[in-house]
Amino acid sequence: MISHPDAGKSTLTEALVLHAKAITEAGAIHGKAGRRSTVSDWMEMEKARGISITSTAMQFPYQTNTGETCIVNLLDTPGHADFSEDTYRVLTAVDSAVMLIDAAKGLEPQTLKLFEVCRLRRIPIITVVNKWDRPGRHALELMDEIQARIGLRPTPLTWPVGIAGDFKGVLDRRAGNFIRFTRTAGGATAAPEEHIDPSRAHEAAGIDWDTAVEESELLSADGADFDAETFFNCTSTPVLFTSAALNFGVNQLLDVLAQLAPSPNGQLDVDGNRREASAPFSAFVFKVQAGMDSNHRDRIAYARVCSGTFERGEVLTHAATGKPFVTKYAQSVFGQQRSTLDTAWPGDVIGLANAAALRPGDTLYRDIPVQYPPIPSFSPEHFAVARGTDPSKHKQFRKGIAQLEQEGVVQVLRSDRRGEQAPVFAAVGPMQFEVASHRMAAELSAPIQLEPLPYQVARAVVDPADVEFLQRQPSCEVFTRTDGVILAVFSTKWRLEGFQRDNPKVQLESLVAAGDD
Ligand code: G4P
Repeated sequence: MISHPDAGKSTLTEALVLHAKAITEAGAIHGKAGRRSTVSDWMEMEKARGISITSTAMQFPYQTNTGETCIVNLLDTPGHADFSEDTYRVLTAVDSAVMLIDAAKGLEPQTLKLFEVCRLRRIPIITVVNKWDRPGRHALELMDEIQARIGLRPTPLTWPVGIAGDFKGVLDRRAGNFIRFTRTAGGATAAPEEHIDPSRAHEAAGIDWDTAVEESELLSADGADFDAETFFNCTSTPVLFTSAALNFGVNQLLDVLAQLAPSPNGQLDVDGNRREASAPFSAFVFKVQAGMDSNHRDRIAYARVCSGTFERGEVLTHAATGKPFVTKYAQSVFGQQRSTLDTAWPGDVIGLANAAALRPGDTLYRDIPVQYPPIPSFSPEHFAVARGTDPSKHKQFRKGIAQLEQEGVVQVLRSDRRGEQAPVFAAVGPMQFEVASHRMAAELSAPIQLEPLPYQVARAVVDPADVEFLQRQPSCEVFTRTDGVILAVFSTKWRLEGFQRDNPKVQLESLVAAGDD
């Protein structure tokens, strides 16, 4: 589930779970200061700032309108651009993405970036135009924007009956009938839906129905009908219209997830060979998260099952080290709640508690070895020296830094010049520093002070023989990242370009960019 912040991701996540009847009343799980609570936001900083920093995994069964039961694994992502690295990690673990757009705002900067990441990773996208209960843009105009700005052909599955702000329901473009929505107080329970035959729809919705039919015909004439092949190869996107806050249109999204979204279909390994879903068990860690529960101070590695079945307690192999990995502490994670997980299948997410050895990108397997591709680290754009404020806590300081690094909260850079006591934090967005600082003090008992460095651009040094030369340059500083990559960092793009012009023999490589680098 991805979107620009505030498009309604947390609200829709909760509405989906509510509709799937996993919880009986929205907001029942826990509260967020001054806001409506949701199942998927929980950390203290998130509550204070009203944003999602962490991402969550949820699983629920859903019975489709054709009576089949489908298991939905839903991964929520942090919306804020500063945490795009985390969002990217989550996107390595999914088979499709639900992209939420605010009906009044259309495509926003973060939406555009996320669309691009999905395209690069070839993740089929289902687009949801949300907040249709509020005045917003015209639906056709939004479709044009999607087509023009991201080159993805929108193929609406439903079409709004009534303009944004006057939402009566949707035209189900495949079945042809009118799905009428009825408001319930505060949207706290699943909104009743009524399926009305097209012959009676005009009577029920008046001219708004006629307009919807007319516009739908225009869309068909324009080739905007659902097409599975182009959806799977990421050149078209099915579109739905919702009001997550009023629980409108949520059932349709669940049906689309169950019926149209691709099911797990094996995974390409580091050599580009597919490990079929039916092969012996394998999974990869896409996220490591600590401090989720202040009473436990534990860390959980989230692994997505790629092939085979998982049985708790069996011994797997950790591909990075070749060491055995015991899975006694496997859990299923549902927002903040956890329970023991005994079995899991492809597409499921396993929470492995106290898995100190695991880091994002690691592979676990049974019987037949496999290694999945590593998750690339993004090119950092913010840098700061971290110093412990209490010299007696140097042990905690070192341990804490190592932990944040392992989880991927920030990248940690080191150099002989700055020494072990003053590692440099590198991040895609400055809010990552806030999270790191907060956690060092509150959770790891080693408060730090961060001194910003005037750098903005990082490049990988291709030939280690160039390091000495680079170290002598006043325009850059050289660091080693934990993954072994040597980084040359520059204050501005302009400085970098000047250096490259003057020293064409020194090879510098771009890193994966979070945005428009
Ligand atoms: P996010 O996770 O994408 O950041 O968004 P979130 O769900 O937190 O929603 C952002 C705001 O938009 C919330 O309002 C939420 O209630 C509202 N919202 C979400 N979906 C809809 C919708 O379909 N229609 C309308 N009208 N509003 C919607 P808030 O002011 O931050 O909180 P609250 O006091 O309204 O709960």
